[in-house]
Amino acid sequence: MKKSNKYTVTAALPYANGPIHIGHLAGVYLPADVFVRYLRRKKIDVIFICGSDEHGAPIAIQAKKEKKTPQEIVNKYHYMIKDCFHDFGIQFDHYSRTSTKIHHEISTYFFEKLYEKKKIFEKTSEQYYDQEAKQFLADRYIYGTCPNCKNKEAYGDQCETCGSSLNPEDLIDPKSTISGSFPVLKKTRHWYFPLNQYQKFLEKWILIHHKKDWKVNVYGQAKSWLDQGLKPRAITRDLNWGIPVPKDTGKVLYVWFEAPIGYISATIEWAIQKKIDWKPYWKDKTTKLIQFIGKDNIVFHCIIFPVILKAYNSRYILPDKILANEFLHLENKKISTSKNWAVWVHEYLKDFPNQQDTLRYILIANMPEKKDNNFNWKDFQRKNNTELVAILGNFVNRSLTLIQKYNQGIVPYPNMLSIKDKKILNKIKNYPKYIGNLIESYQFRESLACLMDLARLGNKYLTEEEPWNKKKEKRVSTILYVSLQIVGMLAQLSEPFLPYTAKKLLNMLRLKTFLWNKIKNIEEILCPGHVLGKPKFLFRKITNESIEKQMKKLEKI
Ligand code: 2FM
Ligand code: ZN
Repeated sequence: MKKSNKYTVTAALPYANGPIHIGHLAGVYLPADVFVRYLRRKKIDVIFICGSDEHGAPIAIQAKKEKKTPQEIVNKYHYMIKDCFHDFGIQFDHYSRTSTKIHHEISTYFFEKLYEKKKIFEKTSEQYYDQEAKQFLADRYIYGTCPNCKNKEAYGDQCETCGSSLNPEDLIDPKSTISGSFPVLKKTRHWYFPLNQYQKFLEKWILIHHKKDWKVNVYGQAKSWLDQGLKPRAITRDLNWGIPVPKDTGKVLYVWFEAPIGYISATIEWAIQKKIDWKPYWKDKTTKLIQFIGKDNIVFHCIIFPVILKAYNSRYILPDKILANEFLHLENKKISTSKNWAVWVHEYLKDFPNQQDTLRYILIANMPEKKDNNFNWKDFQRKNNTELVAILGNFVNRSLTLIQKYNQGIVPYPNMLSIKDKKILNKIKNYPKYIGNLIESYQFRESLACLMDLARLGNKYLTEEEPWNKKKEKRVSTILYVSLQIVGMLAQLSEPFLPYTAKKLLNMLRLKTFLWNKIKNIEEILCPGHVLGKPKFLFRKITNESIEKQMKKLEKI
């Protein structure tokens, strides 16, 4: 990782039209959280920004469904989502929402500046119109058959089955989502971004500059858009829910124009609260902008948002990395909000109190980093019971119980370290670097596997050395001393992945956290004579009964 003063890390703003599920966590928020927690441990100046996306068709459609106003919908889900992230340990520096005054002002300002600089143009065209609902039909307001995969329920902006981006005109047999009626064509005037004028700039930036260091899925989608040739794209909509287009009634800014600006307005809001300058996080050339997004957000972050920043031209930095995962399935079926085929985070938190880290562990271990992956409840139970409980928890618990038994909970002095002891003590010093390098290259599954290797190493050492069978007190002390250094290392390194466990363990050890880069230089993580606290279990076994309950819940669907 090149030296950088600051990091601005953003996570896609979730639509406030429903609760969040495990797919959201595994795809976007958990990798981002691991990454940021790690940077913080390196004492890097990092801000982690997110917020609710409260405009656009997804909100208005949900409002109709629940017979509520869009404002009621976003209020309901914004707080629900915010609380869920908080309770699950996703530690944003700021979680905002796009209905704030400041976001409205900043987005409007962006639009006005682009207008003044003649970076956008006005055009009248024919668009689909629902005569019953008296409304133009863009984005998710219209559905029909996907021209690419023949899915009958593709939306006007995207087909969720094959992932292709669409325009309403592309749909075969289009129908209105509101009334189900066949739309007619009607003239309407809109503001457009001439994306075609930015083709060269984007080609240079993405195809040349980021060919090697972007993830294949992100690069591939961006390239395929560029290969098809960019066309002007409308940045306004005929809707009454959203940010009004200045001096134009009945029209609002396209949600994908203003939502990414939300990253900036949320940063400004945060900076005002903190009484600090926001600009270094968005305008300093050495600041790295890292964006964690969903797979279906790729084009907006690789094409539209960079073009907005470029056209606005006020020294804004461009993203250094845009990271998207593939999809997480549930019990081998695609997660679907509308079919309620999901594990909802708020329900998980209720059903498995104080077991956030179990889900964090399973979702990181199964993270769909390169290809789609699957979550299933049996695997969840197995991984918890045979890995977290039987390896990590067991090793820590055995070490701490033994130290109570043999040395009143006091870290012993080592005597005559064997070759194996020395080897282990040297080896464990490499783990901060191993794990750190993997996190820095965004290999979260591997980095977690590396942490578990360390726990395995400890377990194996203790089992092989059998301190409980040793006659000589000095040897027992040495073995326990070595084991405790491994326990201490686990306490230091587990925090980005398992923050609740790390906290519990650090408390048990009466240990403070060290800066990540300093850990390797510390001679002894737990010094002889240090008094440890009482051991408690780190993880609980998950019973067949609780898994059956979850399976039953799914069967009802
Ligand atoms: O896919 C979504 O949930 C979008 N609301 C993501 C928006 S990301 C950003 F640009 F705001
Ligand atoms: Zn399709």
